[in-house]
Parts: sequence; structure tokens; C-alpha cells
Amino acid sequence: MIILKTERDLKAMRPACMVAATVLEEVAAFVKPGISTREIDQFAAERIKGYGAKSAFLGYRKYPCHICISVNEEVVHGLANDRRVDFGDIISLDVGVYYNGFVGDNARTIAVGGCNVAAQQLMDVAERGLYDGIAQAVAGNRILDISRAIQVYVESNGYSVVREFVGHGVGRKVHEEPQVPNFVDGKSSPKLRPGMTLAIEPMINAGRAEVTVRNDGWTVVTRDGSLSAHFEHTVLITDSEPEILTCREKTQLKSKAL
Ligand code: MF3
Ligand code: CO
Repeated sequence: MIILKTERDLKAMRPACMVAATVLEEVAAFVKPGISTREIDQFAAERIKGYGAKSAFLGYRKYPCHICISVNEEVVHGLANDRRVDFGDIISLDVGVYYNGFVGDNARTIAVGGCNVAAQQLMDVAERGLYDGIAQAVAGNRILDISRAIQVYVESNGYSVVREFVGHGVGRKVHEEPQVPNFVDGKSSPKLRPGMTLAIEPMINAGRAEVTVRNDGWTVVTRDGSLSAHFEHTVLITDSEPEILTCREKTQLKSKAL
């Protein structure tokens, strides 16, 4: 069952998404060459607490960290540890918080200090793919219109779309119905209605689409060792344009489109 949010729900959920977006921005600004992923996770924990929020990931299916930190060939669900990030690494930060009884969920991949052109292009295509997907997040369309827009853009740029992990409905829980794949899968696809809140989150690889999970039971990595990027927003379906709830500037799609 897909839970439609009322105006009252949204009064609580908008601030939750704003906290998630703000923490993500603060964590991104904190990342510097030489810092360990554990230090990044600790900083995120402090910021989340500072807003009176809670990590939506810590303890979820026994996930042991406050945010997901995935470096280079790590796709998603990376675990904080003693690894120090270097100039030229790319690092995916996924921040989900509980606040006011609702979840805000968002992610982005950034370069540590700077990176080469290939890595920058991969990140650009992942982010642009997310916005192409969001542009289809309008009432009357189906989920697959979002999925198709992302897949077409990503694959036409020579990158591949991860299949094993998908976007999702989000609200009082991190994962609600429906699933939001980043590719067309031929399954039945729900119609979009005002009040739906979706976490749209393309994960794309520079090489092949296949992924595997490390022995730690969490960290998803590309099978071929190629770089991976991940961007995510929580988006509200409205009567008109989609509202990006995790966009801090409250900039709407038009001005945010790349
Ligand atoms: N944004 C990710 C998702 O929607 C984060 C979940 S990580 C987990 O699935 F650790 F909580 F599983
Ligand atoms: Co998510």
C-alpha cells in the first residue's frame, strides 16, 4: 500500500527533509584529504544530534553506522572505518534522519579535494540522471517514467545502472512502497498521485552494472572494481511540479536543473 501524505504530515516531513539536507551539506564540507571515514561518521552523528534528530540508518537491519560512506568502487552502504580518504577519491555520502516522526533521505557523491575528469563526468551523469528522473515525478505519470528517464540518460552516456538496489517510498519509515527502480523492469508500475513521497536514487557505475557485497555483510562494491556514484533526493508528487523536499535552498526543479 502506498501511503499518501496529508498537508499535516508534510508540515512534519518537510523539516525532517531539511535536516537531512543540511546535515549532508555540512558533512560534505567536512570531508578533507586525510580524514578517516570513522571521523566523518562521528561528525555526522554530532550534527544529527545537534538538530535533535536521529539517524534513520543506525540499527536499521543492524546497520552499525550513522550515515553510509562509500568510497570509489563502493556503491552504497559503505561502513565507516579507519580508512583515510585521499585527494582524488570520490566519496558517496548517504544521510537519512528521523525528525518529527518522519524520515528525510538524501545522498550525493563528492570528490575529496578534487578528482580526474573521468570521475567528475561519472558524478555529473549520476546527478543529472537524478534530475531527469525527478522531472518525470508528476501526477499521472507512472514510476516507470522516472525509471526510464534515468536509465536512458545514464546508458546513453556510456555508464551502467545498478539493478540490485532501487529507490523507494519514504515517510514515517525509511522504506515504504513503492520501489523506484532506476531501470525499466517490465513489472507493473504504480501511477503517481499527489501526496506520494519518493526517494529517487540512481546508483551508476563507470564499468559494468554488476555489484557484490563485501564480507562485512554491508558494503556494496562494483564487481569489476570500477568507480560508482550515487545521488538521492526525497521528492513530493504535487498537483503541479515535483517538490524536492531535500533541496535546501527550496529551489524548484526549473532553476536547479543542470
Ligand atoms: N538511502 C539508503 C536506502 O534508501 C540507505 C539505507 S542504508 C541502511 O536504502 F543502512 F539503512 F540500510
Ligand atoms: Co534511500
